[in-house]
Amino acid sequence: MTIPIFDDALMTNPHGRYAELRGAGPVHETITPDGEAVWVITGYAEARAALADPRLSLNKANARTRGAYLSSMPPELDSHLLNMDAPDHTRLRKLVSKAFTPRRTANLRPRIEAMADELLDAAPPGPEVDLMTVLANPLPMNVICELLGIPDGSRRDFRRWTNTLLSPAPGSANDSRRAMRSMYRHLLDIIRAKREDPTDDLLTAMIQARDEDDGLTESELVSITFLILFAGYDNAVHLIGNTITALLLHPEQLSAVRVGELAIRDVIEETLRSDPPFPLSVRRFALEELTIAGTRVPVGGRVWISIISANSDEAQFPTPRRFDPMRAPSHLAFGHGIHHCLGAPLARLEAEVAVEALLRRSPELRMAAPPEDVQWWPSFHKRGLRSLPVSW
Ligand code: HEM
Repeated sequence: MTIPIFDDALMTNPHGRYAELRGAGPVHETITPDGEAVWVITGYAEARAALADPRLSLNKANARTRGAYLSSMPPELDSHLLNMDAPDHTRLRKLVSKAFTPRRTANLRPRIEAMADELLDAAPPGPEVDLMTVLANPLPMNVICELLGIPDGSRRDFRRWTNTLLSPAPGSANDSRRAMRSMYRHLLDIIRAKREDPTDDLLTAMIQARDEDDGLTESELVSITFLILFAGYDNAVHLIGNTITALLLHPEQLSAVRVGELAIRDVIEETLRSDPPFPLSVRRFALEELTIAGTRVPVGGRVWISIISANSDEAQFPTPRRFDPMRAPSHLAFGHGIHHCLGAPLARLEAEVAVEALLRRSPELRMAAPPEDVQWWPSFHKRGLRSLPVSW
């Protein structure tokens, strides 16, 4: 029987609702908010296996039905990693990885530190501040623009366009289309300029990436740049916000971090497990009839993997709602398998630098509102805060 699960309860209380669903089983046949059939995986073992299962395709051409969830991006921006399976994915990922190296990320540390300090210095005066507005929201866009090599003069436009696309106001389909078109044209101009005048950045490195004479096409370059802007922005914003919130809700851990007894990195990993910014995987389509934990998924059936549910599965993580940075969790916040997040080292670095800068700056950091007033975005697709008022 199909039971709708994408309702207000799941949006406002994902942990409680997913715990109930896991109690009923690890796989659930249901419908998406726009009325399409979907199979949702909530158990850890099944989620980890599904994320790496080559019989589950990310290519939209393999969908049995086409819902609104499939048509959010125009076709010229579709040539990217999260729409592809092997071997197309293998070729593209190899080329992008040649440019987006761990070393390129590590080299950004001093710039990210300077950007975090600048943002905190520019905070409005007064004893209270909203850390989402002052730090968590702006830092990741600045970092991605720096990483890609988006010229200074265009960054404000990119931030505006990306925000329009990520949080469209009701009835603003035209605004979104205009933002998408402007961004697309502007990116083509930037790529053209970098072809003629190479600079030291990820876009130039992707233009130059070669593999036995093969390189990224214009449409692949633009699509991947779009993916990096989208995948790398909102998720990183909420990793910063969620990590700071976790520390504020656990003052004994905040004190341990301050005296060097607890590593910020461990707090970040437990935050990724406990409140993963990207709670529901990219949709997948069954290439053949599958049976997952006894539930049949037909050919072309759509599958969503609940990362937030898997990360709190009591079969994998005892007392999952206890925030314990010492558990070294094997969480699925960055996915698993061939689509494992390419930006994971950058996301971790940004969160670490943001927390370090904040703690340096504010020895008396406290929440300015009672914990029960913490406002999460009501969303199935993101786990993050609307605002984070603190007294500093
Ligand atoms: C906390 C921050 C982030 C989270 C939680 C996150 C999460 C994820 C997840 C779960 C996937 C796999 C999706 C799936 O298989 O369904 C993914 C893929 C990806 N992410 Fe991230 N991400 C984050 C930050 C970033 C950043 C900063 C970048 C780039 C600057 C980035 C770039 C990508 C790319 C390019 C892929 C596709 C990889 C592939 O298909 O081969 N992400 N991310």
